Amino acid sequence: MNVLQCVEQLASRFEQADLFYGHGTDNPWDEAVYLVFTVLGVAFEQASQDSSTANGLETREIGESELTTIQTLAEQRIQERVPIAYLVHQAWFAGLPFYVDERVLVPRSPIAELVLHQYEPLLSTPPKRVLDLCTGSGCIGIATALVFPSAQVDLADISSDALIVAQRNIEQHGVEGRVRAVQSDLFSGLQGSYDLIVSNPPYVSAEEVAELPAEYRHEPELGLVSDDDGLAIPLQILREAPAFLSEEGMLILELGYSWELLAQRYPDLPVLWLDFESGGEGVFAISREALIRAEL
Ligand SMILES: C[S@@+](CC[C@H](N)C(=O)[O-])C[C@H]1O[C@@H](n2cnc3c(N)ncnc32)[C@H](O)[C@@H]1O
Repeated sequence: MNVLQCVEQLASRFEQADLFYGHGTDNPWDEAVYLVFTVLGVAFEQASQDSSTANGLETREIGESELTTIQTLAEQRIQERVPIAYLVHQAWFAGLPFYVDERVLVPRSPIAELVLHQYEPLLSTPPKRVLDLCTGSGCIGIATALVFPSAQVDLADISSDALIVAQRNIEQHGVEGRVRAVQSDLFSGLQGSYDLIVSNPPYVSAEEVAELPAEYRHEPELGLVSDDDGLAIPLQILREAPAFLSEEGMLILELGYSWELLAQRYPDLPVLWLDFESGGEGVFAISREALIRAEL
């Protein structure tokens, strides 16, 4: 079987299996490409749904052991609903590969788009000190470190398991000299002030998590659930952030679909809701100055 035939066959199986797509792809074809190409080490640029421009994929034969691996992982995807990222231990964020396993959420934050634009026009100067709070795999903080080569970046998480994954990614991207993984319950283990605090914290209520598709049950609950209808952790971050922001500092916080609840409860909160070309919602920016004035 060649690569193209394998992708076609898997895509059709995925389609019939009625999977949920929300961990890096949004359709069966891309899901099949993600699995097959990662196992074979083929670059994603070679993917095409049009066989006439398949760049030789139709002539590359898949070896027996590679095919067995792909089929085994495809079965796990279908029968156990495991997201592909956990099966191949790789997720892409802001164009960069990150090691992932079930100790961390699969990276998918729209904040990737802000990173790729170097947070323009939200920052007046490149940040010297950055905090990625609730870092998980470390994807946001590490990608941010790579677009700001002079920045010192702290990756903070309450989970020691997540921090092992973050540390592995620090080393994978060769940023050990200026990025460190810190265990901290929100700000409690942190010191000093940051020019940029960026956070994709848990923001889903326990009731909503219980309703999510089976794929989400493979993710750590600690990464998803927040009390008070999802708002407890985001609100604590908003209240405590001013003490950890430099004078010109900026907080960027993701709330996903919980943004509507925050906007209802605090209609006068002076935040700037951000738009994303590649989709995603519920991310805002707020300066330290505005946070101090906010009544929370
Ligand atoms: C939504 S995940 C985000 C992971 C990563 N930032 C991303 O975008 O893929 C939230 C993370 O927050 C961590 N977390 C939960 N409660 C926390 C707390 N009180 N203090 C610090 N981190 C916490 C979880 O362990 C999890 O890794």
